[in-house]
Amino acid sequence: MSSASSLSFNQWRIDVHDDHSATSPLRASKFLTFLQLVLLPATVLIFIFLSKTLMKSKRVAPLPPGPKPWPIVGNLPELFKNKPRYKWLHRLMKEFNTEIACIRLGRVHVIPVASPEISMEFLKKYDAVFASRPITVTTNMFSNGFLTAGVSPWGDQWKKMRRVLTSEILSPARLKWLLAKRNEEADNLVRVIYNMCKGSAISDTCSTSGTVVDVRTVSQHFTGNVMRRMIFNKRYYGKGREDGGPCFEEQEHIQALFAMLLYVYAFCVSDYMSILKPFDLDGHEKVVRNALKVIKKYEDPIVDERVQMWKEGKRTEPEDLLDIFISIKDDDGNPLLSTEEIKAQITELLLATVDNPSNAAEWALAEMLNQPEQIQKAVEEIDRVVGKERLVQESDLPKLPYVTACAREALRIHSIAPFNLPHVSTAEVTVAGYFIPKGSQVLLSRLGLGRNPRVWEEPLRFDPERHLKDNLCELGLAEPELRFITFTRGRRGCMGGTLGTLITLMLLARLLQGFKWSIPPNNNMEKIDLTENDQLFLAEPLQAYAEPRLPPHLYQP
Ligand code: HEM
Repeated sequence: MSSASSLSFNQWRIDVHDDHSATSPLRASKFLTFLQLVLLPATVLIFIFLSKTLMKSKRVAPLPPGPKPWPIVGNLPELFKNKPRYKWLHRLMKEFNTEIACIRLGRVHVIPVASPEISMEFLKKYDAVFASRPITVTTNMFSNGFLTAGVSPWGDQWKKMRRVLTSEILSPARLKWLLAKRNEEADNLVRVIYNMCKGSAISDTCSTSGTVVDVRTVSQHFTGNVMRRMIFNKRYYGKGREDGGPCFEEQEHIQALFAMLLYVYAFCVSDYMSILKPFDLDGHEKVVRNALKVIKKYEDPIVDERVQMWKEGKRTEPEDLLDIFISIKDDDGNPLLSTEEIKAQITELLLATVDNPSNAAEWALAEMLNQPEQIQKAVEEIDRVVGKERLVQESDLPKLPYVTACAREALRIHSIAPFNLPHVSTAEVTVAGYFIPKGSQVLLSRLGLGRNPRVWEEPLRFDPERHLKDNLCELGLAEPELRFITFTRGRRGCMGGTLGTLITLMLLARLLQGFKWSIPPNNNMEKIDLTENDQLFLAEPLQAYAEPRLPPHLYQP
């Protein structure tokens, strides 16, 4: 403290003392206590009140509607109490009769949105303002301190990784380079199911050529295989299986990826109150740490070994995406990416790919089994365009609008997650007439948009035809108008849109072309039970009866 200020402070004290101590020193000290206990806090409160009022008067627009927050914690108590948390948020929007709401979690304003028009304001008009991501415990863990493109906040690291993915990993030329690898896994998909049918024919005394297939398992393993093949040039982490199906290692890997996905941006309480971080109150951190251990057990040794091979000159020509990651150079000819960046980005790419295509194909087939005329229509389209003497190829997919419409419809109604990845604002701005403070987390609701009755007539009815109007299927699976969420748009839009479309459509088209699907004969069900669980999956993995419908030689490698 400077001498000038200490002097004036002392003078003030002397003045106060002079007025009262002459009559009673006790009263003076009581007065000081009164000052400390009442006046000072009151002054602070008045100051806070005035500055809030001033801020409010500066902000012309109100916040979007929402429940009144408690002091300091905001609506965290309600969030903690109401599970699943996404259902509570959607219920609130209904109660407030709004397509944009505001919930305060700790100091963070969380803004769920279910209107395509307002979503467009966020991701088109104000795209640059909403191009960051929140810092959360789980994303920090799997991205190894925000080294990756998908979850890093706006900044140099995000720009660097996004540039790498756009120009080197997911460019049209690179996807073409990887075509043979994707084909290998698409051929394996039909071979695996064919082998299941053959296996059951041998053991079955009725010698039928069909069998009940767990569609979720084959779909998830297809997406995992495609990525493993493109990234590591392998399907198996271990010895593998003759019939092309997954071994324990691949099953453990896929299960860990899906376990982790459920906890990414899952409203972890300590993300909103940093004081709670050490306690892992909702257990999210533990689940993600365990899942990450499994994932890293399989992926990291392959990366380490390959980096070494390049260092020792044992590898000089790239054969897969891992080689590409390792051999990208900066302007000075040095490796652009560290081994840690490569490992984290590979994990993120696997997470980004395994879920949406497999979930969409499983839901599409489940819905179509309950409306068999839709299966018939899709198969007729494939037979007309491709025939029965060869398997569907990627180049056929743009000529299959009905199959595309079925996949779009599955993504519309049955999103894998309730919300899009959060977009964080880097400035305050007014959207749809509401004040959106800096640092807000905007959550476009995949459920709210895809099932919005104002936008979609009978929103829960699976009706692929609605996507055939206005030639929407020419877009593949993209939905740039944000009437439902697939790849979104703008600076943080999905970078794997083309690849995601190819994987999803290839999976669905090969399933439909390769096999005649029906409801299993022995389970006394006339319809597939379409109940969804709290994670938005079909409550029970889809079991469907498959019979090969093509000449046997097409299923062989
Ligand atoms: C049908 C398949 C897919 C769907 C539906 C999908 C959907 C999405 C969505 C909704 C986002 C968030 C967009 C936003 O924040 O506004 C996203 C981001 C992202 N996706 Fe995809 N995705 C798919 C496939 C893929 C594939 C195959 C890859 C790459 C191999 C990929 C890589 C990414 C990355 C890196 C981001 C983060 C972009 C950023 O934050 O800058 N996705 N995806």
